[in-house]
Amino acid sequence: MSKFESGEWVMLTSQKGKRWLVRIEDQPYSSHIGGIQLGDIVGKEEGDWLITSTGAKLMLFRPSLQDYIFSMKRRTQIIYPKDLSAMIFYGDIYPGCSIIETGLGSGALSLALLRAMCGRGRLISIEKRPEFALGAKENIDRFFGAPPSNHEIIVGDIEQVCLTCEVDRIYVDLPEPWRAVRNLSSMLRMGGLLVSLSPNVGQVQLMTRELKSNGFGDVENFELMRRDWKIDQLRARPVDRMVAHTAFITVAKRVSSSRGEEPENGNGEAGDFTDE
Ligand SMILES: C[S@@+](CC[C@H](N)C(=O)[O-])C[C@H]1O[C@@H](n2cnc3c(N)ncnc32)[C@H](O)[C@@H]1O
Repeated sequence: MSKFESGEWVMLTSQKGKRWLVRIEDQPYSSHIGGIQLGDIVGKEEGDWLITSTGAKLMLFRPSLQDYIFSMKRRTQIIYPKDLSAMIFYGDIYPGCSIIETGLGSGALSLALLRAMCGRGRLISIEKRPEFALGAKENIDRFFGAPPSNHEIIVGDIEQVCLTCEVDRIYVDLPEPWRAVRNLSSMLRMGGLLVSLSPNVGQVQLMTRELKSNGFGDVENFELMRRDWKIDQLRARPVDRMVAHTAFITVAKRVSSSRGEEPENGNGEAGDFTDE
C-alpha cells in the first residue's frame, strides 16, 4: 500500500475505537484525547500510529466504504451497513450483473452495489426527487473520483417509468414499495431476484402480498440484529446499548407462472392475509 499523501482522507482511530475522519493538511487537529499535526501523517502507511499531545495512540487507516457512507452528506434515511451487506449477499450480486434500483435516496445502496459490481455490468437508479438524485450523484462521483461508467440515474416516479430492458436484479427502498411491484416485475428476467427493504412490518405484509400476486415466488422476509460485545481483562459481555431494529429485508424471485406463488392459507404462514 502507498504512503499517505497531503490532501488524502484518513480515519484516525483511538485504542478505544473512537474514530475521526480528517483530511491531511498542514494544520493542527485536536480531540478530547489530545492534539496532532495533520501534516505529520504524510509519509506514514496504513496501520501506522501517531502519538497525540497527551500521549494517546491513534491508528491511521484509509476510510472504508462504511466510513465514507457515514461521513457523506445524507438528505434521506440511508441503509445501515448490517442490512447493506446482507442485501448484497442475499441479492447474489456479481461483477457483470444488471440492476435496477429505486429510490436512490442519498446513494448508500448504489455505492455498495457499484463496489460489488467491480466496474462491470449496469446499474440504473430511479429517483423521483431531482435534488436527491443530484446529491446522491455527488456522493457517488466523489467516492469513485469520477462518475462510474456503468451507472445511470433516471429522475422519475418508478410507478410511471417505462424501461424495456430485463435486468438480473431489482432493489427497492421506497416508502410504498408494493405500489412499484407491478411495473418492476416486467423489468426483471425470469429467475431474477428482487430485494426490498422496509422499516415497518405493515409495508412487508403489503409487499409480500403484491409480490405473490405479480409473478414472484420463493419470497423470504427477515431482519438482522447486530449485538456488539465488550471484551477486556475484566469483562466479556454484550454492550449496554445497540441499534436494535432498523428494517426488514424481503427477497423474492421472478417466476414464470402469471400469478406467481400460490398463497398458503390457514397455517399461520405467509399468505394468511391474502384474499384466497
Ligand atoms: C429511504 S430513501 C432511499 C435511500 C437509499 N436506499 C440509500 O441507501 O441512500 C427513499 C427514496 O425513495 C424516493 N422515492 C419515493 N417514492 C418514489 C417513487 N415513486 N419513485 C422513485 N423514487 C421514489 C424518495 O425520494 C427517497 O429518496
